Formats: sequence, structure tokens, C-alpha cells
Amino acid sequence: MLNFDFSLAFKENLGTGVTYEEILERSEVASEALKKVIDAKPGFIRILETKEYLEEVKNLTSWFANFENVVVLGIGGSALGNIALHNSLKPLNWNLTDFDRKGKARVFVVDNVDPEFVNAVLSKIDLSRTLFNVISKSGTTAEAMANYLVVRGFLDKAGLSPAEHLLFTTDPEKGVLRTIARKEGIKTLTIPEDVGGRFSILTPVGLASAFAEGINIDALYIGARHGLERYKNRKASENPLILNALLHLEAINSGKNISVMMPYSNRLYSLADWYRQLWAESLGKRFDRDGREVFTGQTPVKALGAVDQHSQVQLYNEGPKDKIITFLKLESFSTDYEIPALHNDIEALSYLGGKKLSTLLNSEQYGTALALAKNGVPNLTVTFPELNEENVGEFILYYELLTATMGELLHINPYDQPGVELGKKITYGLMGRKSYEDFLKEYSGDNWRLKL
Ligand code: PA5
Repeated sequence: MLNFDFSLAFKENLGTGVTYEEILERSEVASEALKKVIDAKPGFIRILETKEYLEEVKNLTSWFANFENVVVLGIGGSALGNIALHNSLKPLNWNLTDFDRKGKARVFVVDNVDPEFVNAVLSKIDLSRTLFNVISKSGTTAEAMANYLVVRGFLDKAGLSPAEHLLFTTDPEKGVLRTIARKEGIKTLTIPEDVGGRFSILTPVGLASAFAEGINIDALYIGARHGLERYKNRKASENPLILNALLHLEAINSGKNISVMMPYSNRLYSLADWYRQLWAESLGKRFDRDGREVFTGQTPVKALGAVDQHSQVQLYNEGPKDKIITFLKLESFSTDYEIPALHNDIEALSYLGGKKLSTLLNSEQYGTALALAKNGVPNLTVTFPELNEENVGEFILYYELLTATMGELLHINPYDQPGVELGKKITYGLMGRKSYEDFLKEYSGDNWRLKL
């Protein structure tokens, strides 16, 4: 179970900002927002009530056993969850050739069309032992489709059957992937119609590659379901979701337009990436639900402790007071080092002797949190007692629910992303896709330009 510490987010310890009492006075509005989200039963909650998606993935167990590698081809919500699960729940050296994976797959996520990145994966794997999981809800995303075509070209060249090496994870009915799959007998997994990309980590989108590498997907659901019960039923003063929503709302309303997530754990770092998309795309909106122009949202930033203490923390402490910080802390690491007590005559080294590396890391986290508080920067800490499926499942549900609740509080639709469309259409025009030429015209010709 996750633990939350909000002590350094309130005026009592900051000397500035909002008091705990003031936040509690506003709790009714957040409780109502949370209730409204849950009562509407969005897809990311509905899926937890069924075993359907877990079973759909588990049905592929014997097929998955044929492969040494699973390569995910997708982008955004069709990739970030896979990366987050892989990094947080498998050892950091899992994909190395000589790591003993006990028959489970390596997982690579190709989520860009940078040819050097694509090549780095494709040139180093044995295609005959690789499953390519093409993930795209729409089946139209240029990056995912281009990488699919590249891979298909590789398979053809190697004389390998597409139906034996491809899996399509896509909308139950719509899209070209569904059409191709039907025609060519390619296996498919379903992205439920009511779950949008960035909320889809606990659908087959995230579950399949996780399962193939030996992650306990049932336990992810147990953690998420437990989280739902925990956050749905508690009164505001004891509810980490309501308190966090109100603190972030207060931050937005008082000009703190940046939300930093700073894990003190390399394995947790990709969860901050996943959060970054969820927070940015869900809350960054021009119009509210009544069509009024609001230009709302909060810019999510990720930082890694302790590394970014030497890069970002100066700014967080002394720069503009435009941030609220969330630390992610890991209490118990799966492995640790005791620092040898050497150079006892050198004071700058001797104090480290006999201490654990994890103790140093977590002391740095707490030290940074206290220093920020002293500088009046609100911060809170989410602690994972250990990194396991239950805790990661709870974290996922917590942030999905928090994001949706924030959407309700900001009176915007957290489930759409109209702002991404225009850039996509112009790119289609640039790439010569039929009937998208007009999107280009507006930006070519005699428009004013300054190119140096
Ligand atoms: O959250 C979202 O909806 C987006 O980030 C999508 O996941 C991303 O654009 C990829 O879309 P698709 O799965 O349709 O290829």
C-alpha cells in the first residue's frame, strides 16, 4: 500500500500558501468531483470489474513462450505504460543478453521514428524469435504505422510469416489494423472502446508485454482495485486523493503552473514519464465544458533524484515560485550496498562508511524536501514500501483517478486531446497523404518567416 506525506505542502510548515484547515474547508467540492468521476464509471475504472482483459492476454501464454523478444510498436498512451511497467517491475538490466530471464521475454518499446533508434533495436534482435506488438487504438497514428511497415518489410525479407510474428492491439471494431488482422489472420488484443490511450495501461495495451516478461498482471489489478476502494470511501481529511487534488487545484489557482514529479529511484523514473503524459494531455485544455476559453492545465515536469539535485533543485528552491513538487520514494530496494568504511581519517568520506546507498538516497530526498519547504515550495511525498505489482497498480489507479478528478474540478474534459490533431494533419499533408493538402496551404507560400 502506498503512503502519502503531505506535511510539507501546507502553510503550517511552509510559512506561506494554504493551511490544512483552509484546504479541508474546500473538501466538499473535491469529494463531489471524485464521486462524479467514479459514478460515471469511465473505462479505466470499468475494466477493473472484469477479468476479460486479463484473460484475453493470458490466453496467449503458450504463443508468447515462443519468443525471446517482444517489441512494442506504438507511441504516447500506446507505449508509455509499457515502458513504465517494464522499468518499474523488472530489474534494470533485464534486457541484457546474459541476464537469466527464466524463459520470459525481453521487452523493447520502439516509440519513435528516429531511424537510429529503430535500427538500434531491429539490428540487434533475432527476428525469428521476436513478436512485434503493434499498438494503436486508432490504427492511423503515423509513427506506429510507419514502424509497423518497416517491421513488416524486415519480416518479408527474412521470409517470416506475419501472422506468426505480429500481434495487433487495437480498437475492437475500427481502424486499419483490425481490417488487416481480419484479412490475414493476425492475432489481436482489444483496446476497449471506452478507454483512451493515456488511461489504457491496465488494458491489453500495457498488460500483454508486461505478462510476456513475467509481470504478475493479476496483482496489478489487485493493487488498482484496492486503491479504488481506499480512495473512494475515505473522508477528505484521511483521503490522499482529495487532499492532493485540492493542493494541485490551489497550486494552479495561485499561479503554480508547474507540477514536478521527482522519483528517487531509477526504476520509478518512467512512471513519472507516464504521469507527464496523463497530466499534460488530460488537463491542458483551451475550452471548458461550457465552451468558454480557459487555457488551463499545469505543465508536468520530471526530474530524477538524486541526479537532478545537481541540475534542477537550485531552480526549484530559488527560482520562480511556480511549482508544486511530488517526490516518489522507495522504502525498500531489492538490492543494496553497504558503503565500505575506508579513509577513516578523511572526514569528508568517513561519515559515509557503514551506511547503505539507499540510506544516502532517501536522506537526500528528505533533505531536499525540507530545504524546499524552508524556501516556501510546497511538496509532498508518495512512498512505495517496495516495488511490486500491487503498489504499482495502486499508483496507476491513484493518478488516473486524480487526473480525472482534477478535470472535474477544472470543469474540462480530461479524456480528449483536440490540441494534438492540427499538427498531425499538417504532417499528413507534408507526407503527401490524400485530402490533407489544404492543411499545408495555410502555412506555406508567402507567410512571414524568419529563417537563419
Ligand atoms: O492519450 C492518447 O490518446 C494519445 O496519447 C494516444 O495514445 C497516442 O496519440 C497514440 O494513439 P493511437 O493508440 O491511436 O496510435
